[in-house]
Amino acid sequence: MTESSPPDDDISPVVTILRAAGCVFAEEEARLLVDEAASPTDLAAMIRQRAAGLPLEHVLGWAEFCTLRIALDHGVFVPRQRTEFLARQAIALAARTIGRPPIVLDLCCGSGAVGTVMMTALDRIELHAADIEPAAVRCARRNVSSARVYEGDLYDPLPSRLRGQIDVLVANAPYVPTEAIELMPSEARLHEPRVALDGGPDGLTVLRRVITEAPGWLAPGGSLLVETSQRQAALTVEIFTRSGLVPKVVNSQAVDATVVIGAKSDRRPG
Ligand SMILES: C[S@@+](CC[C@H](N)C(=O)[O-])C[C@H]1O[C@@H](n2cnc3c(N)ncnc32)[C@H](O)[C@@H]1O
Repeated sequence: MTESSPPDDDISPVVTILRAAGCVFAEEEARLLVDEAASPTDLAAMIRQRAAGLPLEHVLGWAEFCTLRIALDHGVFVPRQRTEFLARQAIALAARTIGRPPIVLDLCCGSGAVGTVMMTALDRIELHAADIEPAAVRCARRNVSSARVYEGDLYDPLPSRLRGQIDVLVANAPYVPTEAIELMPSEARLHEPRVALDGGPDGLTVLRRVITEAPGWLAPGGSLLVETSQRQAALTVEIFTRSGLVPKVVNSQAVDATVVIGAKSDRRPG
């Protein structure tokens, strides 16, 4: 227990309720809820929500991502730990831009978690973000108030002045094959929007569009980074190659993350 953690006596009734509701990390969660609650009434409501199966992050109103607290509203995708790997790859690439702030697009931004950590890690970036879900757009605007956050289908809402200008285009788009959604934990199935999970029959329906249209938005030498699964990596690489991007696959076994990165040729059209 840390110095600021609630004493065990305060959390033990909460642990009992959470354990009975099937929460595997009942003690850890109980401490977070007790810490976060503004009043006993608030705590009781939070315990009820959590015991009823609402994701912990939605109950708390925030998710931890790359050590930051990302504000999270109900109905917005909970940023996953594996996506920290995508964010770190994107930071490393954006840091290579010399002489001016890199232009970054966080496409399918959800809460804006990836863009937020990029903004925090790098001195200056010009951050744009977009999502189709109004709740996600509102949430991302709270998290990265200095970014421009657009609402709409993939690239549709972006200003045309960004065409050919983006240095780093990062996308954690939905990639779960439709049939696999029913195998996901109920927290995801019931409390995250279907549009945040469903990647179509082979899981690549949205990613295919992200990748195919990316070269038109990337600056010469710019990069597209997408999260995918190990099983989908080979097919994802093929789509990159067909779209004229030079792909490589990077993995983190520690967090079970697979990212495909594709660079656009740095020769400017002459
Ligand atoms: C897997 S979630 C990832 C969210 C966020 N990038 C993260 O890592 O936490 C996918 C996001 O893509 C958005 N999305 C799905 N289809 C989209 C589309 N056609 N255009 C824009 N956003 C879309 C969903 O609303 C959801 O927020």
